[in-house]
Amino acid sequence: MTEQHYQVAIDGPAASGKSTAARLLAARLGGYYVNTGDMYRAVAWAALKAGVDPVTQPEKVIELLPGWDLRYRVQPGQKQTLQLCLNGQVLQPEEFRTPEVTAVVSQVASIPALREWMLDRQRECDRLGIVIMEGRDIGTVIFPQARFKFFITASPEERARRRFAQRGEVAADATLAAVAAEIAARDHLDSIRAVAPLRPAPDALLVNTDGRTQDEVADWLAAYIREQQ
Ligand code: DC
Repeated sequence: MTEQHYQVAIDGPAASGKSTAARLLAARLGGYYVNTGDMYRAVAWAALKAGVDPVTQPEKVIELLPGWDLRYRVQPGQKQTLQLCLNGQVLQPEEFRTPEVTAVVSQVASIPALREWMLDRQRECDRLGIVIMEGRDIGTVIFPQARFKFFITASPEERARRRFAQRGEVAADATLAAVAAEIAARDHLDSIRAVAPLRPAPDALLVNTDGRTQDEVADWLAAYIREQQ
């Protein structure tokens, strides 16, 4: 049997349900799920750890880049699962999916030299075969030739409720209104930046996840892809 090789680009705003949809879709297709938001979070986390404030010192973040080897590698013994590694060390999501990182990550992701640095690191995942890559600019910049492109959305209320329910990613004393405001601010920053802003590729299919379970969304995406093959 010939190995299958294609890319599925999944973009959309914060807490739209795209991460879970992409992860479940990867399992259904037998492909690899790649979360590019985690790569930006890892950089934000590592900068903070190095004592750099990425919001006021973006040039210091750029200076740190040559010392970092950031990549996804296949988890030993788990054929379909990837691990994000920084300089050979596996990063745990609890480390970088924190309110402190969330507060600065959009500013980090708007640094043009960093986005340039990310290009090859994200594109090289293509070697894996079937790749379901999730982010903001996958269909527009990283894989404009992707065989499938989806732009996942949900209403602001639904997105705030989902993010609020994700423990660990919001401050312990956060209110629903504060989470909604934080999401709106981040989407705004992601949408207005000069390089690779958040927007659907012209040939992306828009998918609204309001009122649909994560499994329903993943089933729908998998059925759509199988129909087109
Ligand atoms: O998907 P997320 O919320 O974990 O992403 C974290 C931040 O990284 C978010 O502010 C948008 C940014 N990002 C980006 O600019 N481009 C990507 N491909 C993925 C994420």
